Amino acid sequence: MTRRHDPLRISVFASGRGSNLEAILKNIRNGTLTAKVVAVISNKSNAGVLETARRENIPTFHLSNVHFNSIQEYCDKLLQVLTGAKTELVVLAGYMKKMPPAVVRHYKNRMLNIHPALLPSFGGKGLYGHFVHEAVLEYGCKVTGVTVHLVDEEYDSGPPVMQKCVPVLDDDTPDSLAARVLVAEHEIFSKAIQLFAKDRIEIRGRRVLSTKSG
Ligand code: GRF
Repeated sequence: MTRRHDPLRISVFASGRGSNLEAILKNIRNGTLTAKVVAVISNKSNAGVLETARRENIPTFHLSNVHFNSIQEYCDKLLQVLTGAKTELVVLAGYMKKMPPAVVRHYKNRMLNIHPALLPSFGGKGLYGHFVHEAVLEYGCKVTGVTVHLVDEEYDSGPPVMQKCVPVLDDDTPDSLAARVLVAEHEIFSKAIQLFAKDRIEIRGRRVLSTKSG
């Protein structure tokens, strides 16, 4: 990816409380992430992530496909917001809507998602949030984890950029497991974004390799 801006300009999509956005902003403040959040977009007008963005004076957008007469109009608006902000990397941080294929194609290899399991296990349509941890416990796994991956046109199927294992304890509940996994999410999301910020990504087929220097 040829970089035009330093710090890396990232636009964040989220549907919920926004703890991953908070972790990203914390790492930007402490200097471990060389990025600037230039836009926060949510499909939920009352999402906590929008409050966080407003507090940090980051432009916010409440956009949902139901507000548009067609997918094409919705898509055009998404692209207008993203390109208008000169977005270099799109970050999905708990975004519950499927990104239109045209937007995914526009940001090919420049769109990341975080999933609270070790993909390809426990991923795909319907496996999000609490449901993921319930399925992991139901299956009897001893290890779960987090995956940051490139977004392609299907759910959770893009090549992994970074993964981190998280132990499953005998007395875990979906909530206790979710909390432990979330700590790992907050740690590796910023590290994965930093690889893009430093141009240290090399893609070979489905292998996303982190090079020593950009
Ligand atoms: C995270 O658990 C993430 O893995 C999933 O959605 C959740 C978002 O949490 N995709 P938050 O809104 O960042 O706190």
